[in-house]
This record gives sequence, C-alpha cells and structure tokens, in this order.
Amino acid sequence: MAEMKSMGVVGSGQMGSGIAQLGAVHGLDVWLIDSDPLALSRASKSISSSIQRLVSKAQLSQAAGTSALRRLQCTTNLEELCSADVIIEAIVESEDVKKKLFLELDKIAKSSAILASNTSSISITRLASVTSRPHQVIGMHFMNPPPIMKLVEIVRGADTSDETFNAAKALAERFGKTVICSQDYSGFIVNRILMPMINEAFFTLYTGVATKEDIDTGMKLGTNHPMGPLQLADFIGLDVCLSIMKVLHAGLGDSKYAPCPLLVQYVDAGRLGRKCGIGLYDYRKRSPRL
Ligand SMILES: NC(=O)c1ccc[n+]([C@@H]2O[C@H](COP(=O)([O-])OP(=O)(O)OC[C@H]3O[C@@H](n4cnc5c(N)ncnc54)[C@H](O)[C@@H]3O)[C@@H](O)[C@H]2O)c1
Repeated sequence: MAEMKSMGVVGSGQMGSGIAQLGAVHGLDVWLIDSDPLALSRASKSISSSIQRLVSKAQLSQAAGTSALRRLQCTTNLEELCSADVIIEAIVESEDVKKKLFLELDKIAKSSAILASNTSSISITRLASVTSRPHQVIGMHFMNPPPIMKLVEIVRGADTSDETFNAAKALAERFGKTVICSQDYSGFIVNRILMPMINEAFFTLYTGVATKEDIDTGMKLGTNHPMGPLQLADFIGLDVCLSIMKVLHAGLGDSKYAPCPLLVQYVDAGRLGRKCGIGLYDYRKRSPRL
C-alpha cells in the first residue's frame, strides 16, 4: 500500500487530540472531528500548546511546528473524511455508539480507506461487522498521552487482512511507536492486565484496607510503577475504566471482572478524574491533593 497522506480522527478528547497531533507532526493532512464544537476548540488549543512546548524544548523546529498546525483542520462535519486514507475513531467507549459511527464512516470513506478504532477493549470484529469492508477494519490502541507513550497495540479482527495490518503497523512506526499485536479478545493485552489491577485498587479502598494515598504509594514505591493505580485511573478517566471493566466482565464471563461498586459510584457522581477536575483526587488546585 502507498504511504498514507491523509488521516481523519473522530473524537477530539484526550486520545483523539493526541493522535491528531501525531499525524500532523509526522506529515499527514489531518481532519479532527467531534460532534461537540467545544471539545474541538479545547483540542485545538491543547494541540497548539503541546506543539509549542515541543518547539520550546527544541524537540521540533519552529517551521515543522507551524506546518504541522497548518496541516490540522477541525470540524464537526464527518463528510470531510471522504478522501482520508485512514480514519481513526477515538470516541466514547460504547459499542453501540461506535457501531453507529462505523456504519456512517463506511458510507463516507473512500473504498480503499482503512477504518481503525482506538478502543480500549471493544471487539474489533463486531465493529467491523457493521461495515462492508471488515478486511479493512483494525484496532490501533494508542496509549495515553499518544504523543508521549511509546506503544501502539494493534488488534486484528477476525477478517482483518494482512495488507491492513501492515499499513496500520507502518503508520504506527512512522509515528515512532513500538507495535505489539493482539488477537481480538476483550481488553486485548494491556487492559486485560491493567484494568483488573485498577479495579482491585478500588476494592482495596472500598473495603477499607488502606487510604488512597497508601494504595498509590504502595504500588509506586513497592512495585516501581510510575504512578499509583488510583492516580492512573484518574488520568485515564473513571468512565473509561468502568466501560472497560464492563466489557471484560461481559466478554470473558468471569465474576472476577465485575466492576467495584465504588468505581461505579464515582462515575455516577460525575467524578471522572483529571479531565473534569475531580476524581479520586482533586485537580482543581494546582497539583493533585495527594
Ligand atoms: N483515556 C485513556 O487513557 C485511553 C487510552 C487508550 C484508549 N482510550 C480509548 O479512546 C477512546 C476515547 O477516549 P478518551 O479518553 O479520549 O475520551 P474523551 O471522553 O476524552 O473524548 C471522547 C470524545 O468523543 C466525542 N464524541 C463522542 N461521541 C461522538 C460521535 N458519535 N461523533 C464524534 N465525536 C464523538 C466527545 O465529544 C469527546 O470529545 C475510547 O474508546 C477509550 O476507551 C482511552
């Protein structure tokens, strides 16, 4: 397959904005789409300041930063994706909502385009099944934040072709990422292992074993994790963590994956983590109250 020139990213939240930045910095023309204009304007500001930071640290030249920003366009209109070589979906972690989007993307995208999902856990095979091109549907699971984290987990659906896999791998490598490949089972590799640990940290807090500070310090200093599991949950988004636990529970059918009631309660209360200012910790101050 010829080198990709243009990319669409749907969903301009934490993940979509970072993926769009990667595309623009690595020479692709990028359309960033969101149904919420406010999310788009937040994304546009955060990408500009992130690129400015790279320029000020001399990790990117001023000229490269300026042309990256010039290559990035934001819109609420999905039809703009008609000429994209690849479209990466990074919207809310809901199978129904993602399927509805894939159905629309299949109609809009050119016939050669690859449709990728950044889903953390949802079956690529099922997302692909609503399209007329299941061999061109693949999971490209970037880590948070995409410009910094070195890994992309590529997930092959039941019908994903070798050509699609090779093109997705080449794109991730063009972005400077290391690729791992997972079969299409709930949670893939990384979240199959990470999310039960985060859920267990919630159970540890819920059952009064320790304070959140001691749980996080224990895992940081005791197991050399760069941040504790509860702080990491805030960083990922508690709604995202809960959705992934539900997918693991439903998909793998084992009660060990049942979401902790305390995690459910935080989401019900709208305490979704860093992105909304409060989760387990309070980010409305300068630094989290640890
Ligand atoms: N947060 C993480 O650490 C992380 C890491 C890897 C993968 N993911 C996955 O990436 C995806 C996005 O997660 P996020 O944390 O960026 O979420 P987010 O809540 O920050 O952003 C989601 C964005 O999608 C938009 N959106 C929702 N439905 C839409 C639609 N139908 N059309 C267009 N835009 C729509 C919302 O307005 C929002 O701006 C999820 O599938 C998640 O599981 C998240």
